[in-house]
Amino acid sequence: MTDLLKKVTPLFRDHVFAGRSLLFLDEVDSTNLLCLRTPELLSTPALLVQAAVQTKGIGRMGRQWEGGASNHLFCSFIYHPENNSQKIPVITLLAGLALYDALRSLGATNLSIKWPNDILISGRKVAGILCQSKPVSPTNLAVVIGIGVNVQGDSMQFPRKLQKKATTLEEQGMNVAVNSVRDEIARCLETVLVRFHSGQLKAILDEWTNKALCIGRMIRFQNKGKEQIGKITGVDMSGRLLVLGHDDRVYKVESGEIDFAYDEDLDDSDNRGPES
Ligand code: BTN
Repeated sequence: MTDLLKKVTPLFRDHVFAGRSLLFLDEVDSTNLLCLRTPELLSTPALLVQAAVQTKGIGRMGRQWEGGASNHLFCSFIYHPENNSQKIPVITLLAGLALYDALRSLGATNLSIKWPNDILISGRKVAGILCQSKPVSPTNLAVVIGIGVNVQGDSMQFPRKLQKKATTLEEQGMNVAVNSVRDEIARCLETVLVRFHSGQLKAILDEWTNKALCIGRMIRFQNKGKEQIGKITGVDMSGRLLVLGHDDRVYKVESGEIDFAYDEDLDDSDNRGPES
């Protein structure tokens, strides 16, 4: 048994999918990487791994996830989807919805979700999700749902290029402890995953679509290495973005970056979630 398992403590004992137990570490390179390279952690059901400090946090598209000088949430939920393995691409959307719901219940306003994984407050990124997976047996997969939330301090703590794009909960007027954010995310993720496992995917994706407020917006997206422009019409049951191209074809955008085109022509409120 790895020494790490000895440090695991109970968190939400009644949870089946997310945050049943907790491994808290003072410092790690990346909570996602730690989970992926440690089979004992990866096969512990509903384990949540949290670090006070990450020295090499990773984001999507091979980017770094910058920590900043203040206290923030860096955590990875280990989730075993069992017979829902074929739906792995939707897990990022489920986690995005849970994160949105958690921040909203903690008092955030002007929230929105930018597909697939960014949570914005007033158009500035406050949290991100990186889902990675690895088999734990010939038939079972573990999904590591890595979540980073900027909690304390203001955006001046981030590198210059991010200062206008990023924000923190504190900067948005929310005085909330890192562990309260963690606990609320665990509760909301458990709720969403219970619904997912009871066959409510369609309803969950409809909710996601409403909260993302992206339907009808023009975006730039990559199709076979070529940039195209189109209008978002929804998400499909696999979590792909449906985009109506200028050629009247519907494209299913699976990964990669999207950019909201023509933002300068749009009212700022177009990228915001409903007010509480
Ligand atoms: C993104 O928006 O690019 C995703 C960011 C995900 C960051 C979190 S922080 C905790 C977990 N560990 C990592 O190394 N990354 C994720």
